[in-house]
Parts: sequence; structure tokens; C-alpha cells
Amino acid sequence: MITSALANRRTLLIGFVALIVVPLIAALAASSAATPATPRLPGVQYPQNYRDTFVLYSTVQRPDGTIRDLYINPVGADAARANRVLPASTVMVVEGYYALKNADGSYLTDADGHYVKGDPMPFVHVREKRTDWQVEDFTSTARSGAWNFGSFDMKSGADYDESLNICFLCHNTAPQDFTYSIGQLRDFGRADEPIYFFCRTTGRTACE
Ligand code: HEC
Repeated sequence: MITSALANRRTLLIGFVALIVVPLIAALAASSAATPATPRLPGVQYPQNYRDTFVLYSTVQRPDGTIRDLYINPVGADAARANRVLPASTVMVVEGYYALKNADGSYLTDADGHYVKGDPMPFVHVREKRTDWQVEDFTSTARSGAWNFGSFDMKSGADYDESLNICFLCHNTAPQDFTYSIGQLRDFGRADEPIYFFCRTTGRTACE
């Protein structure tokens, strides 16, 4: 009797381990393997060191004394050089400056007629093209195709506090692929050097 009770207990124990414990450990191991060490933060991220790792493809100066340097990451620059549509994972950056003024209030220019950079604008604007954006990656319900937008503090790279809604709305009227500087990008692709562009309109309106 005693031996058979012990044997029953042993069978129960083996059954418990086989049916509950082993699958539980396997499930836990599988779930920890599926979780990445650092989960991706939603939305467009500040492109660290873009001045060194991206390509300056254009500088735009406007009659209101603004200067904007436009950068694109290597994958986008290669597409521009090959005259291809910008692929997913293209990142573009705008960095703005206010032109220095002469004593009479006119803008200081160098020998080429280019403005001279003064104070930087407080933010850096970024667009990123991806086909795998999730709904929670967007801070706006508006969409510009596969592009998402971000704004970052010029000095620290932290999120800059401004609405990104207008980025989508305005870029929706850009001439091609929601990209305003598509003409300069094409010229850059041909010349493989930055295009200095004298825009005739002020503010953020499309250049003529
Ligand atoms: C009222 C229109 C307007 C708004 C709003 C706007 N942009 Fe733009 N953006 C432009 C124009 C025009 C250009 C081309 C550069 C130039 O002429 O200044 C441009 C260029 C860019 C570029 C370079 C690539 C390209 O599309 O040419 C990026 C990146 C960019 N904007 C990001 C942003 C972000 C981020 C926001 C929102 C925080 C934003 N923009 C809001 C008009 C706008």
C-alpha cells in the first residue's frame, strides 16, 4: 500500500513537472527572447551627429534674413545621386540661422552674395520616411505618406515643444513626395555638391 501511494505521488509529481513547469519555463524563455533589450521609442528620433554623418545638400537663403541648411542621410543622398525616389529609412534635417545685419539694418553678405550666419534658430526639424510607422508613432492625425516629423532642441537634441500638426499640413502641399526641396535635391544628385539656393519668398512658403 505504502509503496503504491508513493508511486502515485511520484507519477503526479512527474506529471506536474511535464505538463506545467516545463511549458511555463519554455514560455518564459520565449517571451524574454522576443523582447528587445531596449525597446524602440515611438516617433522620429533626434539624428545624433547629423552634421558629421549626413550630407549637406542645400542651403536656402530668404529675403527675410533666414538661412537654412538642409541635410540628408547617406541612404537618401545615394538615392538622389542615382535619381531614384527616396527610399524608406531616409532622414532629412533642417537647421536654421538668422543672418547677421549691417549697422544700417541690411543683411551682411559675403563675396558670393551669401548671408553670414548669426544666431541659430532654437530647433532642428526632421522628417523620416518609413513603411513601418505605428499609429502611436505619430503626434498628429494628419499624414504625409510614409513621412513622420520631429522637432528637437538645437543645442541639446531633446524634444522641442511645438505642435507637429502643421508640419504634415504644410508638407502635404509640397511639389513631390511631400518634399519641398526636391528640386535642390535633384540638382545636388547631379552635381554631387551642395546647392546654394536664393529663395524669393519669405517665411516657410514654397520658393518660386
Ligand atoms: C508653412 C509650410 C511649412 C511648415 C509648417 C513646415 N515646413 Fe518643413 N519645409 C517647408 C519648406 C518650404 C521647405 C524647403 C526649405 C525652405 O525653402 O525653407 C521645408 C523643408 C523641410 C525639410 C527638408 C526636406 C524638405 O521637405 O524639403 C524638413 C526635414 C522639414 N521641412 C521638416 C519640417 C518639420 C519637422 C516641420 C514641423 C515642425 C515643418 N517642416 C513645417 C515648409 C514647411
